Amino acid sequence: MSEVSVKEFLFVTDLDHTLVGDDDALKKLNQLLEQHRQEYGTKIVYATGRSLTLYRQLTTEKPLLSPDALITSVGTELHLDSGDACDPEWAEVLSEGWNREQVVATAAHYSDLVPQPDSEQGSFKVSYYLTPKASVEVLPRLESQLKESGLDVKLIYSGDKDLDVLPRNGDKGLAVQFLRQKWKIDPVRTVVCGDSGNDIALFSVGEERGIIVGNARTELREWYEANKTDYRYLAKAFCAAGILEGLYHFGFLGD
Ligand code: GLC
Ligand code: MG
Repeated sequence: MSEVSVKEFLFVTDLDHTLVGDDDALKKLNQLLEQHRQEYGTKIVYATGRSLTLYRQLTTEKPLLSPDALITSVGTELHLDSGDACDPEWAEVLSEGWNREQVVATAAHYSDLVPQPDSEQGSFKVSYYLTPKASVEVLPRLESQLKESGLDVKLIYSGDKDLDVLPRNGDKGLAVQFLRQKWKIDPVRTVVCGDSGNDIALFSVGEERGIIVGNARTELREWYEANKTDYRYLAKAFCAAGILEGLYHFGFLGD
């Protein structure tokens, strides 16, 4: 048995097309993670692009373990208990330099940006649909226009359709870093898993162990190819089966 498998770790995963997508593998992974949590105190965290509303909808459709913390809305909301409340300390960090109204007003000039439903708009997240074709021109233009208006924000394009505009201090990776520091867990004892553009921040924030599932989208694959290191692993298997493969690879789960 690998040495590290008998210690707690911080397990962070995206949901759609990462944890969720292969029901049999999800059941197996759930069982191993729950056992590890009970025996060693391993912590389970979901980091999703979904709002809390859409997260709750998913929990009625798939058997998800209840997480020790929940990061929703692409890292712009942190829930430390099962209620609706967002962690106020994290909200404080995000509010620095953020001006939601100004982002909305600037983006309104672009007819290619189609606002996502109200449920997916957040205090610290403005989201649109954008086609890949239009994105080529719109993304650089919007980015420089936002900069010119003095807005230091982040544009995250995922899955060839979703554009999120986030505060400079917010994304999934920074939210995990905040949590890791709060819980005093080292990056080497942290594993992050994802499949698409909004997960790149999970892998790029530091030296957390990274598992990129075999079905990852092009934007994440390209980033992985350009940023190879020992602590990032591209799995062959898809979704939860890819996560299992990666957990064994890094020795978080042993034989
Ligand atoms: C989820 C969210 C959506 C976001 C996308 C990519 O689908 O519901 O608002 O744009 O993730 O981050
Ligand atoms: Mg995903």
